[in-house]
Amino acid sequence: MGKKRVLSGMRPTGPAHLGHLVGAFENWVAMQDELECFYCIVDWHALTTDYANTAELRNNIRELALDFLAVGLDPNRSTLFVQSHVPAHAELHLLLSMVVPLPWLERVPTYKEQIEQLREKDLNTYGFLGYPLLQSADILIYRAAFVPVGEDQKPHVELTREIARRFNNFYGAVLSEPDVRLTSTPKLPGTDGRKMSKSYANTINLGEDEKSIRQKLKTMVTDPARKLRTDPGDPAKCPVFDLHKVFSTEETRAWAAEGCRTAGIGCIECKTALADHLVARIAPISERRRDYEKRPNDVRDIFLEGARRAREVTGQTMTDVRSAVKLPPPTEL
Ligand code: TRP
Ligand code: SF4
Repeated sequence: MGKKRVLSGMRPTGPAHLGHLVGAFENWVAMQDELECFYCIVDWHALTTDYANTAELRNNIRELALDFLAVGLDPNRSTLFVQSHVPAHAELHLLLSMVVPLPWLERVPTYKEQIEQLREKDLNTYGFLGYPLLQSADILIYRAAFVPVGEDQKPHVELTREIARRFNNFYGAVLSEPDVRLTSTPKLPGTDGRKMSKSYANTINLGEDEKSIRQKLKTMVTDPARKLRTDPGDPAKCPVFDLHKVFSTEETRAWAAEGCRTAGIGCIECKTALADHLVARIAPISERRRDYEKRPNDVRDIFLEGARRAREVTGQTMTDVRSAVKLPPPTEL
């Protein structure tokens, strides 16, 4: 009791990778001690872009549920659930949609950007325009004090605050404005040197085994100027070194930087050292993942209980919201 509440969500769009680990999960795990945490698999959000092909949806949700548990989200301390199991999110989204001016949604930076970037998909839909509003509903329905997100999501939380204010102006102080809590999002290149992302097929995934991690690092791009073993390199131009910065110890990092600049070490050695650190970091995650994979009923029960708890909390908020809007309860018609 008395702990402040946080809510965050992740879309089930494929296997979680190192980018999710350092950009989201590790921050989420750390918050479990000091805050009352709600972590949500936002399957409706996945539908806003992937509505035309839902063949993988169910499997993606299951995989992400395993990832949640594998990284150390603890069902005894956090409420873990699937968005579509808590229909009140949709009800609040609907009520928010009554008051949100269209231009507020049209000017969200990700809106036009994504339509451009995902040209192969038809995103000229009502649901996609409403993406950030659904996110606002996710947040406001828990009366969350904080939303831990990366820089890219900041406009969505700003919108959430504006929506809460506007809603309260019409109906009285019923929603509370959340604060952004910016999580550190270190630069994390994938194996081809571009940002690690499923759409570039350059990821190292959390479920990946040691052999495959080592194999992927072996073929990862390096400083292009370092063609021969005897050519000195520049760590600042090497994506492998960006990974050293995130996953290696200070000592290994210094050794790699020095060895690279002086051609004292080769790229294979440098990558092997990185792989050792990476494998050590991922080992407990893979182990927990394999353990939960063997107990699908336990995973189901954890998310069942999470949804029950989430429905309890959101039910309370919606009672207040309906009353503020003056929608009559069925018993008082
Ligand atoms: N839009 C977020 C993302 O792409 C996912 C998300 C949906 C979310 N609902 C949320 C994040 C609520 C924080 C809070 O990462
Ligand atoms: Fe990159 Fe390491 Fe090779 Fe230098 S030695 S180019 S940092 S992989």
